[in-house]
Amino acid sequence: MRSPRFVVPVVVLLVAACGAPAAGQQVKAPDGALVGVTMPTTTSQRWISDGENIKRDLESRGHRVDLQYAQNDVPTQVKQIEDQIAKGAKLLIVASVDGSALTTPLQHAADARIPVIAYDRLLRGSPNVDYYATFENFRVGVYQAESLLTGLGLRAADGGPGAESGPFNVELFAGSADDNNSVFFFNGAMSVLKPYLDDGKLVVRSGQTDFQAVTTLRWDGETARKRMEEILGTTYKRSKVNGVLSPYDGISLGVLTALQAGGYGPKFPIVTGQDAELGSVKSILADQQYSTIYKDTRELATATASMAEAVLKDRTPPQLNNLNDYNNGVKVVPAFLLNPVSVDKTNYHKVLVESGYYSDDQLR
Ligand code: BGC
Repeated sequence: MRSPRFVVPVVVLLVAACGAPAAGQQVKAPDGALVGVTMPTTTSQRWISDGENIKRDLESRGHRVDLQYAQNDVPTQVKQIEDQIAKGAKLLIVASVDGSALTTPLQHAADARIPVIAYDRLLRGSPNVDYYATFENFRVGVYQAESLLTGLGLRAADGGPGAESGPFNVELFAGSADDNNSVFFFNGAMSVLKPYLDDGKLVVRSGQTDFQAVTTLRWDGETARKRMEEILGTTYKRSKVNGVLSPYDGISLGVLTALQAGGYGPKFPIVTGQDAELGSVKSILADQQYSTIYKDTRELATATASMAEAVLKDRTPPQLNNLNDYNNGVKVVPAFLLNPVSVDKTNYHKVLVESGYYSDDQLR
């Protein structure tokens, strides 16, 4: 799956045609190659860890790493990528702020024959994206919706019918509209919720059910808090909301703050989440947030570093396991997908503590 824009010396083609590349036949980058890594923001712990883990992993493989955070600002990220190209990066790993806003620097990378790996978020609208490393994003949404149903009692933990039949009032939140993942999360969730909405077991009293109507720019918790407060103030004067589909822990926190300000608690509506951020896991243990989705970003970072290693050696990453689902509007980007895990109070210890992601002490 070598991108056509790579210049591939004939000798390598011969070697590739004969099977395994001969030792020392690195064509693109010697050891110690500079890898440019750009992450969206430090406002969420996951991206801090992602960046640190990729850096550590690549450095342990003998590479140099330029790691930058864009603080959710598109021009900053454009500049960081341009700077990395100018510094002579041999490969770029990009977790975008706005997946469609990087076509120009990506073209510049292609002009300089620098391969690009999209990290976690797909880079859209550009032919100059070589690979994509992420999680099963549709499944994240499915798990969020299933846990909303389980929390409400409409579904049993084993997936069978629950003890409750509703109707329950729910409100829907989606992530940032400029993040390709948001669509996958929302569509995954709606694939589970739709039958319940259709037969009236779930009711969205605000009427806001379209993706565009429920998105949260830049995944901002404060934006979510305001929207939730507005919905409570206009729609729930005489009734209660029973559940909130939230796509990300930072949004869940905003939603819970609004609920608290609106007089909810100590028993809260069922609120979902994503990322197993420390504050949200504690909130789950304190019976506030109901669930989250754990994505082992250590595994994603390791897989991406080893994909990077293969690409630097001009080889197709062996990890690729999805060649169909991630069309970025210009091409289908070959992807490696990891599995997410749904976490609530019943399994947090096994999933988060026994895996070493958090210690018991951290969760106290
Ligand atoms: C990531 C999620 C994260 C969200 C907000 C998405 O692109 O896949 O893990 O919760 O961004 O940072």
